Amino acid sequence: MRIDVVSIFPEYLAPLRLSLLGRAQEDGILELEVHDLREFTFDRHRTVDDTPYGGGAGMVMKPEPWALALEAVFTAHSERRGSDRQTERTTLGERPVLIVPSPAGEVFTQALAHELANEPTLAFACGRYEGIDERVLDWARERFEVRPVSLGDYVLNGGEVAVMAMVEAIARLIPGVVGNPESLVEESHSDGLLEYPVYTKPSSWRGLDVPEVLLSGNHGRIAKWRREQQLRRTAARRPELLDGADASQFSGGEREV
Ligand code: ADE
Repeated sequence: MRIDVVSIFPEYLAPLRLSLLGRAQEDGILELEVHDLREFTFDRHRTVDDTPYGGGAGMVMKPEPWALALEAVFTAHSERRGSDRQTERTTLGERPVLIVPSPAGEVFTQALAHELANEPTLAFACGRYEGIDERVLDWARERFEVRPVSLGDYVLNGGEVAVMAMVEAIARLIPGVVGNPESLVEESHSDGLLEYPVYTKPSSWRGLDVPEVLLSGNHGRIAKWRREQQLRRTAARRPELLDGADASQFSGGEREV
């Protein structure tokens, strides 16, 4: 997969070169390019923002640098998708996806991470200040499938931190990025529920014991216990998730975990 990120703070994205994602880039599984939006300005101050039409606090990101930056990204993605097409990894006529992190977007979920992990290319446009001039998104829709995406119901200072979270969540789903693919199977949200609690040695620590069932060696009992724990935990912390999950095995009882 190729990922392009446009930001006025490219150094913010440096941690994406570390750990498993760094290894994936060394191995050629992931190609990540971070572009400085100011490289697409031509005035002495490398201006990327201006006052909002209609008044109000803060500044709005200007359309011109964004159009140039996104055109450069689009060209790179078209070339990439063209070569993928020859190896039949993408469908003719599909537009590359452009994610615009925004508290006003659809909420990022594990389901969306899976969907995006299947794309051959992804672009991210990090807004700052009060956001990007809306016409940039309208203009970009002719080239990209534009998706404003929110990390959650709170406001960050810009899109960079959201991009780090989304890129990590997406890239770890690409085959070969996480060493043991089985670890993706039983984690939170993989089946719509929160993950069960986990323990390691010693079996007794500061007067606290690992639940007996986990020491039993009985795989059937362990699987049943874990499922019950998932349901209890989800009911206590995120009850709204139970609507979409199969709760038939929930035995009830105490709700807090
Ligand atoms: N930019 C500012 N706040 C954000 C949020 N909650 N999610 C994504 N991008 C953002």
